[in-house]
Amino acid sequence: MVKVAVVEGDGIGHEVIPVARDILAAVRPDFEFFDVEVGYGLWERTGCACGEETMAELRSADAILFGAITTPPDPDYRSVVLQIRHDLDLYANVRPIQGGDVDIVIVRENTEGLYSGIEWTEPDRACTARVVTRRGSERVARYACTLAKSRRHLTVGNKANVLKSDCLFVEVCMAEAARANVPCTARYIDALCLDVLMHPDRYDVIVTTNIFGDILSDAAAYLVGGLGMLPSANIGERHALFEPVHGSAPDIAGQNIANPIAAIRSAAMLLRHVGDPAAAAAVEEAVRRVVDAGIRTPDLGGTAGTREFGAAVLREVGRGK
Ligand code: NAI
Ligand code: MG
Repeated sequence: MVKVAVVEGDGIGHEVIPVARDILAAVRPDFEFFDVEVGYGLWERTGCACGEETMAELRSADAILFGAITTPPDPDYRSVVLQIRHDLDLYANVRPIQGGDVDIVIVRENTEGLYSGIEWTEPDRACTARVVTRRGSERVARYACTLAKSRRHLTVGNKANVLKSDCLFVEVCMAEAARANVPCTARYIDALCLDVLMHPDRYDVIVTTNIFGDILSDAAAYLVGGLGMLPSANIGERHALFEPVHGSAPDIAGQNIANPIAAIRSAAMLLRHVGDPAAAAAVEEAVRRVVDAGIRTPDLGGTAGTREFGAAVLREVGRGK
């Protein structure tokens, strides 16, 4: 029995996650789903976006399917996504950038770096500490090396020329790569961003620190049709959470025009994680066939709605059985 916690979250999370859940339920009727409410809407009503009880519910799941949460730039509001990644110790954020000839996997350190949550404000100064630890670097580097071993090579995105914290990150990643016998190159993140866009064929697995991975993956979405396409997995020792890379997209929420592919592909990553690569491949193949048949949401130049696209994928999944 696989227990899946479902967090729709805010904005287009309410549209793309039901589509992804229906597809999961179709390929795995034995999965047990339960809804967990988290996010801005809850915070507005109760003053708490994600309390201890909610965290206990999330911990009880074998896997979490997650939409997106609106985070207002309000000093009293702590990002729930960061809280969950931190509290469940989801240290590796795996973001495949795949489509056409592009096949890159970004592995982003997910619990520390500039998003460690160590911040303070003074009247005329605000500070955010960037913390990189040997343990945090080792475990994400090990994850990236294991992935790169079955692929081609590893690139370490960094800014060690100006940041002491990245000297440690690069040192640890190079040592792990040498130990795993994975070819590895360190590249400065700013030049790397441009090079990934110009020569995606040069890249395979890229490991980097928290904020750099956040920015690089959104930029790399350009290579494969935009943010509506990118899935992700947040992996820890005990827990795993699967979510589209995009946010709650308030500008298009409630209009049935959001692209659900990122959410559906995240569900496929969930299937692979719980040991069902065949179902994962069937879902990914169904998405490909629907897109090839010209059924696309407006961000991909089509006219299909979120629900209509989802229904087409469900039909394809049924046909493939
Ligand atoms: P966003 O990713 O929500 O949207 C950026 C742009 O991409 C928007 O124009 C949006 O319409 C478009 N877009 C995103 N997903 C799409 C989809 N599936 N189909 C078609 N178009 C899509 O990022 P933004 O606007 O910077 O942030 C909006 C809110 O989401 C903020 O409150 C932010 O804090 C939150 N956020 C939450 C994340 C999470 O929960 N993991 C991640 C990123 C942002
Ligand atoms: Mg982001």
